[in-house]
Amino acid sequence: MQMKARKIAEEERLVIRNYLDVDHREEMMRLVRQGLSAERKWLHCKYLYDQRGSELFDQICQTEEYYPTRTEMDILGRYAGEMMDFFNLRGGDLVEIGSGANTKIRFLLDSLPPRARARLRYVPFDISETALVDSARELLDIYPELSVLGLVADYTRHLAAIPEGRKLLVFFGSSLGNFDETTSLEFLRGVAAAMSRQDRFLLGLDMVKSVEIIEAAYNDAQGVTRRFTKNLLANLNRELSGDFDLDLFEHHAFFNPQRECMEMHLVARQPVTCRLADLGLEVRFAQGESIHAEISQKYSRERANGLFRRAGLAPARWFSDERGWFSLVELTRAD
Ligand code: AVI
Repeated sequence: MQMKARKIAEEERLVIRNYLDVDHREEMMRLVRQGLSAERKWLHCKYLYDQRGSELFDQICQTEEYYPTRTEMDILGRYAGEMMDFFNLRGGDLVEIGSGANTKIRFLLDSLPPRARARLRYVPFDISETALVDSARELLDIYPELSVLGLVADYTRHLAAIPEGRKLLVFFGSSLGNFDETTSLEFLRGVAAAMSRQDRFLLGLDMVKSVEIIEAAYNDAQGVTRRFTKNLLANLNRELSGDFDLDLFEHHAFFNPQRECMEMHLVARQPVTCRLADLGLEVRFAQGESIHAEISQKYSRERANGLFRRAGLAPARWFSDERGWFSLVELTRAD
């Protein structure tokens, strides 16, 4: 499919294309109205990540309890060379879906000698144009032989923007776990459709482990995750002229053993009515009523393999830490 893009930058080593087409404010108004009018209230987890939310998430990654980032980086530190053997003899694109900061991709890039790096093109894919351009320029400074094609796009909509040709795709952080099952499957099918038989896809997955360890990661002692979840209400207050009193809502994060996922909720401490003036919406909460703000799926190999099968993908290699807490799984197309 041919997708329309605005060209943002065209320099010798840097090209940026922007595929964003929707009116984000209109979409936010629609999704928030839908979620807060539902019988079991919910809010889309993307509204956790305004500027403050992204800063808080970075702080979460540094808490003692939040093991996924640290564990994934350990795995990258140990196996980056093997993961990048795809580029040993031939070049191609290294496509990072949801690229954000450069911390993780640098493990992969650092594992190659400069002459191999010169053969590859780094293709970051992210919804934030400023973050993408800043990170791309930083990498170009660090690696003088690298070239970059940046895609400013939404990975739930624009995977078809990924260029054809030999490529290794990566999606770090177990962000797949923040999608519901239908969206995960659609996403994985979209990635499979962007791949040809020779291509590889490296996917980060947070694995099932002891409930205490998982729950502690979302209930850190410093209260960073609590501030992160509550910031969702601050975001609504600012963007939609709301009057949510953050002190009247409590962060509640627990493991759901049936679905094998963490659930993050905001629970009303007392009966309260909140208004979102820009939506002309009044929302009533009974004491103890919650807004479901996020899920974070934890995977067994069995669950993950089932998902891959349905998406037309097949695991080739699993890279894990010694405790088996986190995995980077290398996938190919199943056919
Ligand atoms: C971004 N994502 C992988 C995080 C997770 O662990 O699911 C989001 C998060 N929410 C609270 N803490 C971390």
